[in-house]
Amino acid sequence: MSNDNRISTERATNKARVLIFDTTLRDGEQCPGATMTFEEKLDVAHMLDKMGVDIIEAGFPIASNGDFEAVAEIARRSENAVIAGLARAISGDIARCGEAVRFARRPRIHTFVSTSPIHLAHQMRKTEEEVLEIITATVKQARNLVDDVEWSAMDATRTPIDYLCRAVEAAIRSGATTINLPDTVGYATPQEYGDMFRQIINRVPGAEKVIFSTHCHNDLGLAVANSLAGIEGGARQIECTINGIGERAGNAALEEIVMALKVRGDVMPYETRVEGPMLTRASRLVSAATSFPVQYNKAIVGKNAFAHESGIHQDGMLKNKETYEIMTPASVGVSKTSLVMGKHSGRAAFRDKLSEMGYELGENALQDAFTRFKELADRKKHVYDEDIEALVDEQIASAYD
Ligand code: KIV
Ligand code: ZN
Repeated sequence: MSNDNRISTERATNKARVLIFDTTLRDGEQCPGATMTFEEKLDVAHMLDKMGVDIIEAGFPIASNGDFEAVAEIARRSENAVIAGLARAISGDIARCGEAVRFARRPRIHTFVSTSPIHLAHQMRKTEEEVLEIITATVKQARNLVDDVEWSAMDATRTPIDYLCRAVEAAIRSGATTINLPDTVGYATPQEYGDMFRQIINRVPGAEKVIFSTHCHNDLGLAVANSLAGIEGGARQIECTINGIGERAGNAALEEIVMALKVRGDVMPYETRVEGPMLTRASRLVSAATSFPVQYNKAIVGKNAFAHESGIHQDGMLKNKETYEIMTPASVGVSKTSLVMGKHSGRAAFRDKLSEMGYELGENALQDAFTRFKELADRKKHVYDEDIEALVDEQIASAYD
């Protein structure tokens, strides 16, 4: 079979292309309580396709008829992205996955098997040699169904490097076009994760013919840092989810990766096709579909990501926004920075707030209003525009008494 369906990571600019593989609908949906309905999955897939995600992992077709139908429908509808389905290294899984993704313009089968000693001994109860045979047979089976086959070494980061090289070599020789080396349990450090890719790419024959992929879990809060280290080590695909949802502590967050590469392109010369201004809408859509709230201080898409309360910060922001913001709110789809009025706010921000609300007070009236605002902010956790309005209106009314 030809390799026509493969995505090129050749440089379009002076930056290397990094493919974004979104697994919100598969690994993301696997986290307890995040189940989505058929319609919700179609909506999320539509958004991902529109925003420039390269590969959408739409589900695990063997898991249920519902999952199969969702993957098949997403495959039928998607206009740009490669549509992948997950399959264990089992013949029936691979056949079912092939049936689901075959409707896609660009179908991918993603098959995986564990390679670490602990998984081989306790979960698979297989020897290293037996697992190598499984890899060869299952990747060949998948490759007979589609041109684009991804193979993952589950628990790669706890697999001795010599054996990992042999497993990767078997997958490449059998026809895999993407090799994913997951940090399944979120155990690696960035240095280790980057080095693993460097070693594999240097040592495995045929490594130059395939795309290497990262897949990081967030058990130690290192998923995004590890993914970026993987790219520095030679990987050219990152697997991630919207809002970082996923098994246990989640997966690497798509919005954080995309914006880290955009904002720090000076030291990380890589680019993705994802549209930054669509990130906030995608985050809200996934949050609504899964009923998982986004933490207030979540990077990029949290409610507070562009909110400033302290007087010093608000003063700086009023003078020049770059004092305390490293990206514009518009670059991620937020209409504007918000200067939150609270007990830490200063006079400059208070004056700005009043003028935004249509009040222009003289110096003395402003000072009075500010003193009363500070007293209120000490008593009240949230000071809303309505509170400020009431406070100023009362002051104006009393001036006429
Ligand atoms: O975390 C993991 O290892 C996975 C594989 C199925 C790719 O999700
Ligand atoms: Zn995973």
